[in-house]
Amino acid sequence: MPTADDLLNAAADHDARDPLRGWRDEFYVVDPDLAYLDGNSLGMPPKRTLERVDRLMRDEWAGGLIRSWDHWLDMPQRVGDQLAPLIGADAGEVAVHDSTTINLYQLIRAALRLRPERSVVAIDPGDFPTDRYIVDSIAAADGLTVRAGFDRLDDVAVVVRSMIDYRTAEITDIVAETARAHAAGALVVWDLSHAAGLHPVGLHDAGAQLAVGCTYKFLNGGPGAPAFTYVAADLISQLDEPFHGWFAQTDQFAMGPNFLPREDIGRMLAGTPGMLSLVAAQCGIEVTSEAGIEAIRAKSIELGRFALECCDALGLDTSTPRDDARRGGHLCVNHPDARELVPRLNAEHKVLADFREPDVIRLGCSPLTTRFTDVARATVAVAELSS
Ligand SMILES: Cc1ncc(COP(=O)(O)O)c(C=O)c1O
Repeated sequence: MPTADDLLNAAADHDARDPLRGWRDEFYVVDPDLAYLDGNSLGMPPKRTLERVDRLMRDEWAGGLIRSWDHWLDMPQRVGDQLAPLIGADAGEVAVHDSTTINLYQLIRAALRLRPERSVVAIDPGDFPTDRYIVDSIAAADGLTVRAGFDRLDDVAVVVRSMIDYRTAEITDIVAETARAHAAGALVVWDLSHAAGLHPVGLHDAGAQLAVGCTYKFLNGGPGAPAFTYVAADLISQLDEPFHGWFAQTDQFAMGPNFLPREDIGRMLAGTPGMLSLVAAQCGIEVTSEAGIEAIRAKSIELGRFALECCDALGLDTSTPRDDARRGGHLCVNHPDARELVPRLNAEHKVLADFREPDVIRLGCSPLTTRFTDVARATVAVAELSS
């Protein structure tokens, strides 16, 4: 069995051979000794984001003042077009706006209106809280039934499902599961929060029609950066979205008496978008696109394999899938003292990870910034603290 030193040496070798190693220099790193393993909650800031936000404030806000809205107005759609190839969508099918929670609410409600004859919404009871709470709140308001799990879909109106599990990192096969739901007559709203920027998502190839996700994790868009909505082109004009805000209005500045929704993806917008965070999201999306989503995924697989190797060598338990094709970007170490160990990792070992109920130490590997050495240090530290 390899020792802790062997693992740290192996990590240094991996780092030296990593084809993406130069991308870490594109990020603003305050403490190079910190093993940051939480990029799946909040990605690190790209250097260009600092410059771009500064420029936006000086030139476009202070200098351009209200005139800058001329080119700000369609930013949610333009940034959506930049994001589209990363998730297998076409230009015109993605808008970057609001939050994942708001966008989920909007898409679930709009999808339900396309299946008025059905009254069941299916969701995994272990899915991320905001997804479950939104489903529950809509169901309570509309008298719908919430079905736990996806075994039976023949009476389901809408399936709400994460592509990558936020705890175990297990990947759901969106091609097979979209096809199964559609064959049963259900619509699917995919949550890509733990996939976007990490894994090439083939929304079109999967026949997926509706999806949301966030940009502050693997896309490094910044704290509270706006989320995204994807709607397949042929469905956009059929969606009766619940927020009739003025940014979704045809001929917005005519200030007309009645709401007439736009025919394009702009109909998913609600109110005035926050430019500072949108431009930050744009920078993160740009960096990801330039590095290449296939190369990012390839490194993510290597990081995951290495993390599992470390766990095995150190005797740590994990419920993260071993099959590369079924494993997303983080590694979950199951430990009875996880809650106490996570703050100690930070205080005693400069390892920043996070805790998830009930017993998960989540080590998020963000391929553009995470080093193999970070993974080795984190797992060795968990082993040391638990011995
Ligand atoms: C799967 C999933 N959905 C949604 C969210 C968060 O939604 P919001 O961006 O609205 O806070 C998260 C945050 O971690 C998430 O993991």
